[in-house]
Amino acid sequence: MPQRPAFAPWLDDTNDVTATFLAAGQIPGLINLGGGLPDPCVWPVAEMAELASRAVTDHAAETLAYTPVTGIPDLRDLIAARFSEGDLHLTRDNVLIVAGGSQGLALTGNVLLEYGGRITSQSPAYLGALDTWRPQQPEYRHMRLERNDLDLPALMKDAQFAYTVPNFSNPTGRLVPTDIRHRLVEAAEQTGTWLIEDDPYGTLYYDGPPLPRLITLSAKGETPYNGPVIYMGTVSKELAPGLRIGWVIAAPNMIKALATAKQSADMCTSGLCQRMTHDAFATGLADRMLPGVIELYRTRRDALLAAMDTHLSDLFDWEKPSGGMFVWATARDASLDTNALMEVGLDHGVCISPSSVFDPEGRDHRSIRINFTLNPPDKLTEGIARLAKATRAMG
Ligand SMILES: Cc1ncc(COP(=O)(O)O)c(C=O)c1O
Repeated sequence: MPQRPAFAPWLDDTNDVTATFLAAGQIPGLINLGGGLPDPCVWPVAEMAELASRAVTDHAAETLAYTPVTGIPDLRDLIAARFSEGDLHLTRDNVLIVAGGSQGLALTGNVLLEYGGRITSQSPAYLGALDTWRPQQPEYRHMRLERNDLDLPALMKDAQFAYTVPNFSNPTGRLVPTDIRHRLVEAAEQTGTWLIEDDPYGTLYYDGPPLPRLITLSAKGETPYNGPVIYMGTVSKELAPGLRIGWVIAAPNMIKALATAKQSADMCTSGLCQRMTHDAFATGLADRMLPGVIELYRTRRDALLAAMDTHLSDLFDWEKPSGGMFVWATARDASLDTNALMEVGLDHGVCISPSSVFDPEGRDHRSIRINFTLNPPDKLTEGIARLAKATRAMG
């Protein structure tokens, strides 16, 4: 029998840890602190059903047909208007509608990344981004934005692009301060590097007013915007991830390139979901629900931190995040292996994400990511008590 062709070599480069913690959500009785999920209780089910029905009835030709590759014009215009501010003048030509931020990341890899190319990435980095670029087997330069000795031009020089999550990064929950935002934009301009601003958590500020977006800082008043930032937004965290709607905002030549890549990926994003998203913004539904979501998640963050103070303070160090969905905790004992802790945690009925999956080289074994948005306070407290037991059991 002739051998069937082998699978592509990059598949050998994936890890079991990711598969384990993604599957763990299904175990009965388990408290899942490992994902990055919104609580389904925040979804406005009746209003969304109404929007869906009206979308099909009033816009059948748009919602049941293929849409233009770039997205329905009304939604592109709405996003352009929603994000234009100060010197940032956006038109439809700056906007591509995509199937969630994930697709924006994948398409950017497709149009910029050569095989073995170089990415300068905020570190640690979002697992989904690392996964989507894996087939091109990139080499990573790590940007540790909290360090004092940060030389951004040196890090960005000769990279095919730089990747950042300035608002409440996944996994660390950190907020990049305004002075570093300015420095990121300056370094991108100085080195001629495209700069991805991945912003799923930009509406989830719990303690203060939002900091300026990189794309706004990089705008020079030109119409349409033509700077180096590739901004990615999504409805997943503020409205509903099941819509699978996101947007890329960038210079028109980048939007054109991404649209060419999107055409071969999926022709277009669901017209029904695009129309529902348009109407959720246009009717004010998304903006009306946001204060309730923020209030709920702020309470949960505080409950999680209180439980961590009670149960984990001799075992881990962490910073209080001022938004987003995650607390990043680093073991006091440098020899603690959080890949092993994830397994022991599962035996104790709790799931966390180990730091190795957020490191392109898989070397960081000392930290964990804990989610606080999915579970109510009593479950968060019980989950942290279980995690403390599991950590002590590793002794
Ligand atoms: C940093 C970051 N970027 C992008 C995404 C992708 O989100 P979606 O594809 O649901 O829009 C996520 C989802 O968790 C994320 O945390």
